[in-house]
Amino acid sequence: MNKIKVMTVFGTRPEAIKMAPLVHALEQSESTESIVCVTAQHREMLDQVLEIFNIKPDYDLNIMQPRQTLALITEKSLHGLDEVLEHAQPDIVLVHGDTSTTFAGALTAFYHKIPVGHVEAGLRTYDKYSPFPEEMNRKLTGQIASLHFAPTPRNRDNLAREDIKDGVFVCGNTVVDAIHMTVKDDFAFRDEQLKTLDFEKNRVVLVTAHRRENYGEPMENICHAIAELSAAYPDVHFVYPVHLSPYVRETAEKFLGGNERIHLIHPLTVDEMHNLMARCYLIMTDSGGLQEEAPSLGKPVLVLRKETERPEAIEAGTVKLAGVEQKDIVRLARELFDDADAYAAMAHAVNPYGDGNTSARIIQAIEQYFGRREDGPEPFMS
Ligand code: UD1
Ligand code: UDP
Repeated sequence: MNKIKVMTVFGTRPEAIKMAPLVHALEQSESTESIVCVTAQHREMLDQVLEIFNIKPDYDLNIMQPRQTLALITEKSLHGLDEVLEHAQPDIVLVHGDTSTTFAGALTAFYHKIPVGHVEAGLRTYDKYSPFPEEMNRKLTGQIASLHFAPTPRNRDNLAREDIKDGVFVCGNTVVDAIHMTVKDDFAFRDEQLKTLDFEKNRVVLVTAHRRENYGEPMENICHAIAELSAAYPDVHFVYPVHLSPYVRETAEKFLGGNERIHLIHPLTVDEMHNLMARCYLIMTDSGGLQEEAPSLGKPVLVLRKETERPEAIEAGTVKLAGVEQKDIVRLARELFDDADAYAAMAHAVNPYGDGNTSARIIQAIEQYFGRREDGPEPFMS
């Protein structure tokens, strides 16, 4: 019997990290042929991931421009993918999450009448402008997709509220598959600045911030909060791997540069990042992926956003929504620095987002869709 031709389409760092375990599983499965197409909406940050997971794309659209607009990313992806789909003729296209690449990938596949599988489906804030443009990207992708791989039961219920009930599978999040591949007790850092850190003597706080809706005052507030905390706690080192977006770099450098206990460093490779997370004291971030990874590692997270589409870890007690006001961020961080009980209450390893078997479930659902097996996957129970 012919193998099912499955094309994965992705373009940014987090999509690559979360698609990587699935690409490996598709390569190994007897029933599927894996075809990888990257838009390269991110260039260097994507290539870092491809190298670590040893993935060689079959198609690379190489679209990234400095300070690219949303329209430009979408337009270049649509044009490039149009040709690729014409040439490769996959049986199904898999897109991930909520980026501009995701939406463009789903839309182009639809124009070619190729079914779409949406990995990480059903996350919602119900605020069209926050996260922007991600909330609309994932809603529009949900309308196009035939298969919806929802990480959690809540994500399934969100889809049901939009009358998306067929082809929905609760699979967990592939990011947990990824973290099982990277974290090692004896991991040795390659980054020169990470090598200088003493995790026994100093408390290390990992910081990341990049969201478009945080550009401007929110990101400045976040920087002021970190500077205030750094001045108040001489034993604490902040490590901030700065996203390559010029806006983010300029803001971080302007408000946090030149402080010897605030390490503004180049984006880390994913294995270094995951192992840094495993060893740090606390994570402060506006990233989606970090909120899903940290619970596997038992690290408290303060989310530097007004809302989150990932409330499961808040309910599990390992994540708190800190907002984007300096005083709120400082208050919550101080509590975790000063109060051992408050820290212990958040620092436990339970992950409501996955168990490491998400890629296998997704492949079973695809096999069922193409009539290669009777039953779909057993749902992930969070
Ligand atoms: C994108 C996604 C966002 C995701 C984030 C993950 C959209 C609209 N946004 O946001 O959902 O959370 O990725 O990081 O899809 N750049 C480089 N080199 C790189 C990567 C980026 O120089 O390797 C710079 C470029 O100047 C680029 C800018 O960063 O124009 C912004 O990249 P872009 O993909 O447009 O937006 P992100 O903020 O990264
Ligand atoms: N990450 C990384 N190196 C870094 C910062 C983040 O490998 O320097 C990883 C992180 O572990 C997570 C993903 O990138 O898996 C998150 O990406 P990002 O925060 O850019 O996007 P989001 O998840 O918010 O969409």
